[in-house]
Amino acid sequence: MKKILLSLSLFWLFSACHTKVDELSNNIAIIPQPVTLDIKKGNFELSSATRIIFEKSQTSNADFLRSYLHTATGVNFDLKEANEPSKGAIFLTLDKSLKPSQYTLNIAENQIIIKGGDDKAVFYGVQSLRQLLPPSFEKSGNTSDIYLLPNVNIKDWPRFPYRGLHLDVGRHFMSKEFIKKYIDMLALHKMDKFHWHLTEGQGWRIEIKKYPKLTDIGAWRTELNGDKYGGFYTQEDIKEIVEYAQENYITIIPEIEFPGHSLAAMAAYPELSCTGGPFDVRASWCVGLSEDVYCPGTPKTFEFMENVLAEVIDLFPSEYIHIGGDECPKSRWMECSKCKSLMDKEGIADGEELQSYFIKRIEKVLNKHNRKMIGWDEILEGGLAETATVMSWRGEEGGIEAAKMGRDVIMTPNSHMYFDYYQGNPVFEPKAFDDRINLRKVYEYDPVPSSLSTDEKQRIIGVQANLWTEFMPNESQVEYMTFPRIAALAEVAWTPLENKSWEKFMLRIPKMMQRYEALGINYSKSVYTPELKESFDNTRKEIKVTLSTNEPRAKIYYTLDDSNPDPENAIEYSDPIIINTTSTLKACLYLNGKPLSNIISKTYEINKSIGRKVVFGNPPSKSYQGTGEFNLVNGVRGSIAYNDGQWNGFKNDFECTIDLGNLHHISSVRSGFLQDLSKWIAVPEYFEVYTSKDGVKFSKAGKKDLPLPRHINGSSILDVLIEFEPLQARYIKVLAKSSTLPKEHNTSDLHSWIFVDEIIID
Ligand code: ACM
Ligand code: ZN
Repeated sequence: MKKILLSLSLFWLFSACHTKVDELSNNIAIIPQPVTLDIKKGNFELSSATRIIFEKSQTSNADFLRSYLHTATGVNFDLKEANEPSKGAIFLTLDKSLKPSQYTLNIAENQIIIKGGDDKAVFYGVQSLRQLLPPSFEKSGNTSDIYLLPNVNIKDWPRFPYRGLHLDVGRHFMSKEFIKKYIDMLALHKMDKFHWHLTEGQGWRIEIKKYPKLTDIGAWRTELNGDKYGGFYTQEDIKEIVEYAQENYITIIPEIEFPGHSLAAMAAYPELSCTGGPFDVRASWCVGLSEDVYCPGTPKTFEFMENVLAEVIDLFPSEYIHIGGDECPKSRWMECSKCKSLMDKEGIADGEELQSYFIKRIEKVLNKHNRKMIGWDEILEGGLAETATVMSWRGEEGGIEAAKMGRDVIMTPNSHMYFDYYQGNPVFEPKAFDDRINLRKVYEYDPVPSSLSTDEKQRIIGVQANLWTEFMPNESQVEYMTFPRIAALAEVAWTPLENKSWEKFMLRIPKMMQRYEALGINYSKSVYTPELKESFDNTRKEIKVTLSTNEPRAKIYYTLDDSNPDPENAIEYSDPIIINTTSTLKACLYLNGKPLSNIISKTYEINKSIGRKVVFGNPPSKSYQGTGEFNLVNGVRGSIAYNDGQWNGFKNDFECTIDLGNLHHISSVRSGFLQDLSKWIAVPEYFEVYTSKDGVKFSKAGKKDLPLPRHINGSSILDVLIEFEPLQARYIKVLAKSSTLPKEHNTSDLHSWIFVDEIIID
């Protein structure tokens, strides 16, 4: 180690003369925020002479700490079993006066003592110690002689026993190495459940010896563009990951979906379905759910379920097994003679009761193996299985109902806990699901509904966030959607309500982001993206742009000349920005001269149509009026999010006429069309432009056919430009023909929606 003190440590030295200094001036930023944290005068010097000593039971925690410190510094710290703390040492021990998961961390001038009510608690003490070290310790190359740790007394324990994060590896497969990294990151945040969603219509990802076709066939799909995509975990992979998770005190809860989301399994074994197939592993996620689900009228289905679960139970020691239960269409069952005869025999009245029958049979199998069943809140429908734990995802209602029935509940509502939803303005974000769940919304969630009684509240055993990977094609994108929202989740799951504070969390998060940076995680800085609001002034024919930020200490700098903004070349934002010529606004948030956000960029197109009167052939749908009267001519473009409030949506063909007020020289018309097949929105079949001098007699200026591939997962904007010989016109009529949706949409009305914004005339 070289003799260089970190600036962090120096900073601490200077501030140490005050006895009662706050956490941040001591650079203390532990996430999740501990229950109690007292800061003392003085510090512990971590150097190559520091020893790690441990009570015998704490060997693996001591190894973890030593290995962490070794990677960071290259030093081989002395490691020794001992029953008492000693000078210059970090001591790890159990303390039976503490509860399970409860730890104390005491840092004093000459020693560090971590005590835990169990091994897991000691591990959490080590994780808190880790967060008192510099973020640079997350990677190698720390070569100072001494690192100063602030003297603290921490006593800490979790609010909830279930602190979960989910990952769907069905839509997109994630490597074994990535799953381990994900587990590492759960541990850093003191999360303790990894809900591993292993089977989907789009891919079966777990090897089952008795049914080899599940992975030979079910793990592979032909993408819409013809590419082959897939992957799976062998049982050896799974054993390795389970063991790795155990070392990190994380329980893996596998999810094997029944009875819906099962097309990949039935592509391999079509005899498990009502119709007998054949089926392909599903390639699309933009056209609703598969109607084909396991057939409960077939004894083979239950034999399959028992055999699969037996192997799953052998692989996963978790007391909980998740069996899905969500989003199961009942249409095939209602038409199936095998299902009908089962319903007659068992006195089952409808599809919901049949689903409940299915789930209760799974429950029996799990209970026989001494395991507990978790299911999504649909398992309440048709009668809840007796011992089931309910995962409430369609809001909190299912969880509330289950808690009132005396059942355990995990809250994971899609209002707050779906990390596949946008975390910022869709204009500046990669494609995600519709709604916005920003960092603050996650942070401010309280999983315990106030409508429950004191006893019922005890039934809320925890909280979880979910990552469905339709729009996360790779591991880097999973990281982007997970971090830093996992940090907010960690405080929801761990920190007592009275210790939670969004403002203080915002002061702690930068250090965690530095840790992510050192760990090579593609975390999102969306919390710092300047918020942007536009309003259009029709009389002045100009756009007023208002910028704001979540970080009151920071400044926004912007440019309008397409150059990248920084404090030297850019304007510091104070008042709304007026845009009256075509401009690209670029903005960035700065704190103490350093950029906090990414640069955001948005172009406003001031053209001949701005603020002109628009007359529609058919009016836009009531739900998609955009900003109103001038939506198509306000210079502000819609984003890839259909519901961003900038799109005009039409259930039929689209036609409108723009009155430029008097004759203008024009030579082109350009419009943007959205395609998002998951919302039944497609680019039109063709786009036409007509012009007129008097508004009566129109002549055609041009037409474009748009043979765009209509099989696309995700969303995109197509700009269509029609150019013509310069001419004089006052009235411009544009027309777009609604196209036909792919037959997979499985609906009687295959007319697509047209979403348009905007009409640019030059
Ligand atoms: C779910 O999001 N379908 C549980
Ligand atoms: Zn059937």
